[in-house]
Amino acid sequence: MTHRIDPRQRPHTSAGSRFSGLFLKPLALVAALCLLVPCLAHAADAAPAIRYNAQTHVFRIDGGGVSYIFGVNNKGALQSIYWGRELGANDPFPQPQQAQPVASFELPVNTTPAEYVGWGSGLYYTPDIKITFPNGNRDLVLHYASHAVNGDTLTIVMKDISLDIYVTLEYHIDPATGILRRRATIQNKTQKPFTIEEAFSGTWNLPRGTNYHLISLAGRWAGEFHVQDQPIHENKIVLESRRGSTGHQNNPWFAIERGKQPDQDHGDVWFGALGWSGSWQIAVEQNELRQVRVTGGYNPFDFGYRLAPGEKLQTPYFYGGFSHHGIGGASRLLHRFEISTILPHAPHPKLRPVVYDSWEATGFHVDEAGQEALAEKAASIGVQRFIMDDGWFGERNDDHAGLGDWWVNPKKFPHGLKPLIDKVHSLGMHFGLWVEPEMVNPNSDLYRKHPDWVLNFPGRPRTEGRNQLVLNLARPDVRAFVFNFLDKLLTDNDISFLKWDYNRNWSEPGWPAVAPDKEKQVYVKFIDNLYSILAELRARHPNVEIEDCSGGGGRVDLGILHYTDEVWTSDNTDPFDRLSIQNGFTYAYTPGVMMAWVTDSPSWANNRTTSLEYRFLSSMQGSLGVGANLSKWTPEDFATAKKMIAQYKMIRPIVQRGDLYRLISPLHGSEHSVTESVARDRSQAVVFAFLHSSQMGYPYPQVFLRGLDPHATYSMQALDGKAYPGTPASASGAYWMSKGLSPDLHGDFQAALFLLKKVQ
Ligand code: GLA
Repeated sequence: MTHRIDPRQRPHTSAGSRFSGLFLKPLALVAALCLLVPCLAHAADAAPAIRYNAQTHVFRIDGGGVSYIFGVNNKGALQSIYWGRELGANDPFPQPQQAQPVASFELPVNTTPAEYVGWGSGLYYTPDIKITFPNGNRDLVLHYASHAVNGDTLTIVMKDISLDIYVTLEYHIDPATGILRRRATIQNKTQKPFTIEEAFSGTWNLPRGTNYHLISLAGRWAGEFHVQDQPIHENKIVLESRRGSTGHQNNPWFAIERGKQPDQDHGDVWFGALGWSGSWQIAVEQNELRQVRVTGGYNPFDFGYRLAPGEKLQTPYFYGGFSHHGIGGASRLLHRFEISTILPHAPHPKLRPVVYDSWEATGFHVDEAGQEALAEKAASIGVQRFIMDDGWFGERNDDHAGLGDWWVNPKKFPHGLKPLIDKVHSLGMHFGLWVEPEMVNPNSDLYRKHPDWVLNFPGRPRTEGRNQLVLNLARPDVRAFVFNFLDKLLTDNDISFLKWDYNRNWSEPGWPAVAPDKEKQVYVKFIDNLYSILAELRARHPNVEIEDCSGGGGRVDLGILHYTDEVWTSDNTDPFDRLSIQNGFTYAYTPGVMMAWVTDSPSWANNRTTSLEYRFLSSMQGSLGVGANLSKWTPEDFATAKKMIAQYKMIRPIVQRGDLYRLISPLHGSEHSVTESVARDRSQAVVFAFLHSSQMGYPYPQVFLRGLDPHATYSMQALDGKAYPGTPASASGAYWMSKGLSPDLHGDFQAALFLLKKVQ
């Protein structure tokens, strides 16, 4: 269904409603058609429906048990009506009306829950877009111009009331999860360039209310994904990164829960995430009418995108969803959505293999003999992919030199990489390699040759982080260099995996090679080039998988996950700390991409000593890897590792693809933590139970499982082979969910893994 109005038509203002004069005739025509044929994008099936009511000017998007409803209000603006649980198909929605302010201090634009609003007409809250025009005008008032429905996608064109600025809004709904995907494309059809100072992807409006609280993910290097929870009051909460990349400090994800819920799986939760790996912002505001808005997109700080006549700027995708099953339900929807629509090879991304990574064992001191020895040991315990980490290239003997010089170090590998790769293959494993393509050490041939290739302001200091500078990937020559060296590396060597690292954030983000008024485009073009390199490499080397890493989990978002198969969750591999980090990670991201290594004890992070079994069970909650120095392992360690890797392979599809229930949180000093993953068909489930320290002899709490078929019988097996008193060998799903499971753990840093299988 396509509906267009000549956007150059001047709005009719005399009848008290610009809308009626502008749209009546074409809308009447569509209305007449709708009487004959239901205005559905998809005829009579469970597929999503996008409907437009031509009399009320209301759009309605239904899918995955969610309804999203908004309309063109009596002034021509796009106004939100409803977002939440699916409503009755025939529920009435009159045309939205701009709310009348109660005081002269509240101009009408502020009391309208707008879908996408320009900074104009006296707007005081976060605009979706702000532009400075060459003549000094900064007023932008966007009105509906036309719309089109194409399958699961609705596009709406908005136009300024007088200038030829067009903004195309795109709404797409995933029929399985009800998750919406939005973005905006800004187009300059005027005769002159202008500067976009703020460009967000869109705004989510929640039902008016005062009992919301915001859940977000904060952190730092080696301490990512802390779950934050704060009430939403009448003010603005800003989640953001100004770092040029996603950042460890805030993750571009939010969830808003209505009321305090008894547990993770109850209550109404609205959630969303940005698909962008550059500087970003999500602003949560409650206005004087208690309306809550969430606006997300490019970070406006230091933004200034010059748009020439005829040019377009597209914002990142901003995803949003609703769950009636609490924050747990929200996570499960996101996990499904990521697997079925975001990840490479979606809807069937490959399960993650068990990997070995050399970093914690050998640091920068890699060489042929040492890596081959590790590879033999890794293969003996069932590892499927061997990854050589940092140190193999240039003069890379520590972190002071070598980045940018992507030739194999001849002292460490006198015969190139081939002997090691052949050896790894002969052991039945795939070979992976570490790279950090966007970085350069000043002590490198590359920097000596191209000092102008880094982000910099001429004549100003170049601030180093980890002794390195950021290459300006927005430059075409830098983009070509990065693509070419990676393409050659993958062409010349049988490499099936890249660990793509990024170990600092930006400083002095100048781009002196372009005109000053175009320099700030770096915030967009750098990331666009990153994505295009990843896409092109994947197309040319379809069997290569890529891990996204940024000093751990510093660049995890739905943008990079479209191009990378997995992420390095955190440099902190302490298995107890990991329980909290992994817990937070799963609020937004599927355990199917959450890489977790078993490393040495005591851990470097906290000097904490834990058993090998405990370390394995912590890592088995995600995608399992080993990063320990295997040359120091005892025969018993090898036997334990071999047994647990075999167990992991057995439960891997449930952990990586199942529905996750966070049953007992490790947060707030909890002595216990429990997660459960249930296969989608409910035929199997696994339960991980961890104990920090027994205190006063108290028993472990009873654990009530979720998501099972209450009428089926499930066998229960503790994979450590121990008997757990009070836990029968089999019982009904109802039993496990209501009578529960008794992990019966005692001592310090104990853990157990239980496997349930449907037997009838
Ligand atoms: C980062 C990564 C580590 C490792 C080092 C290598 O810190 O997160 O896993 O690869 O770089 O320098």
